[in-house]
Parts: sequence; structure tokens; C-alpha cells
Amino acid sequence: MAPVEDTAGAGIVAIGAYAPRHRMVNDEWAQHIDTSDAWIYTRTGIKARHIAAAGESTAMVAARAGNLCLEAAEFDPAAVRWVLVSTDTPEMWNPATACFVQAELGATRAVALDLTGGCSGFIAGLALAEARARLGEPVLLIGCEVLSQAMDWSDRSTAVLFGDGAGAALVMPREPGRPAFEIMNIYARTDGRDADILGKPYGGTRNPLTPELVREGHHHRIVMHGPYVFRNAVTKMAEAAQAALEDAGLRLEDVDLVVPHQANQRIIDALTDRLKIPRDKVFSNVEEYANTGSASIGIALAEAIAAGLIRAGQIVLTVAFGSGFSWAASVWRVTGVPPVRSELNRGPS
Ligand code: ACO
Repeated sequence: MAPVEDTAGAGIVAIGAYAPRHRMVNDEWAQHIDTSDAWIYTRTGIKARHIAAAGESTAMVAARAGNLCLEAAEFDPAAVRWVLVSTDTPEMWNPATACFVQAELGATRAVALDLTGGCSGFIAGLALAEARARLGEPVLLIGCEVLSQAMDWSDRSTAVLFGDGAGAALVMPREPGRPAFEIMNIYARTDGRDADILGKPYGGTRNPLTPELVREGHHHRIVMHGPYVFRNAVTKMAEAAQAALEDAGLRLEDVDLVVPHQANQRIIDALTDRLKIPRDKVFSNVEEYANTGSASIGIALAEAIAAGLIRAGQIVLTVAFGSGFSWAASVWRVTGVPPVRSELNRGPS
């Protein structure tokens, strides 16, 4: 009897990435608040971030990355069956940001849904995308944040960390011969006992806004216990990376490139040391974009591909941690380098 080919599976077949044109360097922050380029750079590795223009909303930023991704794949928007937008900075309370994106893209046959998964939302979203793509349904997954609209510009301990942008991936059923990041495994976890440690607590149904709370600036307040977040980010991302690899039958030595969530260079370095991976196998562009939440992995992938760091035959590991707490990792086999289109407005390096 002829062997049955295992056609089940899915992969990322195109990437799109966008960052707003306005590039804000650390010295600009020092004009607003009591901080300095030296403090920000030594604590975080960040030199710049991109800030959405007035009126440039989450759906607009997400749609830009989504369009670039579909153009890269030369894929008809009407053939997309799911538009999933991972964001913590939604267009509005209701409806989902993804609905506006779906309309803008002309994805007329798609279901549009948001995921509020924190900085690991892109990888958790990939688990859902993979499940549908395996059934033959093309999924456009977009991680997007306009954190500049959500943060408190007077709070130096959080504001300097964040930036705006979006990364998109077209996830399709496995097709022999098509260049893709073939998804070998995804590991994702949440521990809601730490839900109050990191987030934006005002404006929802638990803490509705009143004129008084707005006067006191609570509508912009971000809660973050920095050192506790730091420690958990390192240990939980290490756990996710190891578990995702183990379940795929791989070891850390098999990994050619790690593309981690870009929160802070010190977190990335501590993770690298904990996993005992050579630093040149770990991609970072946090210096240029700061922490763009669920957008960071898509943007990082676009730049890693453009830099020629990803090649056919490699094993790539992505890993992220964020509010929830939630953490996730995914392992991919590169059957060929997927096409990329990006508009990242990178500054001089
Ligand atoms: N400029 C100058 N001083 C500052 C600034 C700033 N922008 N922000 C805070 N400070 C001050 C604080 O007020 C504090 O002063 P105090 O000691 O007088 O009270 C002091 O700096 C704290 O300094 P450190 O202890 O050296 O700061 P630390 O090394 O803990 O670094 C940081 C702080 C960068 C926030 C770190 O804890 C961190 O990276 N945590 C993880 C946070 C994170 O990445 N959050 C993003 C979301 S989660 C995710 O994406 C993984």
C-alpha cells in the first residue's frame, strides 16, 4: 500500500509589518518628563519608538499591516476566512477592531474577531489561526497596538517603554512546495491570579470612569510592577520555550533563530542567558520600536527576514510574555522564506 501523505498542518505564508512615520527618540521624552536617554537605554535597550499620528487609530494601523501582508502573498482579500486582531488598545469598546479592519481590507467572506491576549496574544492567536487553517480556511492574524493613545504620558515608569505598530501573518493550510513557516508546535498558558499586576484597570465594567476619575487621570493609568513583571517574563518565557521545543521533539541546540517578544533588551538578554543560547541566535529590534505589545513579533519577523537571518531548513522559535499573566511559544520549520512587505519607517541606526 502506498504511504499516505500527511497533509494536515498549517504555516505562515506571508508577513506584513507597519510602524508609524513619527519616530520619537529618548531625548524627546526628556523634554516631557524627568528622564534621560541614558536611563532609558541602560534599563531597556530602547533608543526610539514610533508614534501614531493624530487620528491614526488601531484599525488603521492594523489594516496597513494586513494589506501589506496580503500584497506580499498576492492573496485575494475576499478569500480570507478569518481576520483575527490581537490588541490591548482597541478601536472602541464595541464592535471589535477586527470588524473595521475586515471592511478596510475588503475581506468580504471573513469572520472578524479581536483577541485581548496581552503581549503574547500574537502567539496565542496563532494557535487559533492554525486550528482553522488546518481545515482549509485562510486566516489573517494581526498583532496591533497604538499604545501611545493608551498610556499615561506623564508616568515616566511606563510611558518610555512603549511604541506603536502592527505585524500581520497570513496562515494557510500546508501546501507542499510553498515557502512557509510550518507550525510544528504552540505552547500557551495564562495565570489570571496575576491579572492585577500589569494592565489598564480603569474604563471597563469593574472600574467605570467617572468625571472625577478622568480629572485625576485614571483613564490613562497603567499599572505595572516592573521588577515582578521582569522576573516572571524571564522565567515564564524560558518555560514556554522549553516546553514548546520538547513537545516538538526538539532541543534548544536545534534552534537556528529565536524571535522573542520585544519588551526590553535586559529581559531578552536574561532569557538568552537562562536558556544558554548564543546571543547571535536571538533577534532584537527593541532599540528601534520599543515595546509594541502584540505587534512586536510580526515586526521582528519582518526585519529578521529582511536581514537574511531566516533561511530554508532552519528551525525558528518565537516566545512572548505579557499581561494576564500570559505566555506562549511556537516552533516553526522553515520550508522556504515567506514573502514580506513592510513599511517600518526605520530611522538611522
Ligand atoms: N527615567 C528615570 N527614572 C525612572 C524612570 C525613567 N523613565 N522610570 C522609573 N524611574 C525611577 C523610578 O522612579 C525609581 O526611582 P526610585 O528608586 O527613586 O523610586 C527607579 O527609577 C527604579 O530604578 P531601577 O530599580 O533601576 O529600575 P529597574 O531596573 O527595575 O527598571 C524597568 C525598571 C525598566 C521598568 C524594569 O523593571 C522592567 O523592564 N520591567 C519589566 C517591565 C516591562 O517590560 N513591561 C512591559 C509590559 S510586559 C512585557 O511586555 C513583558
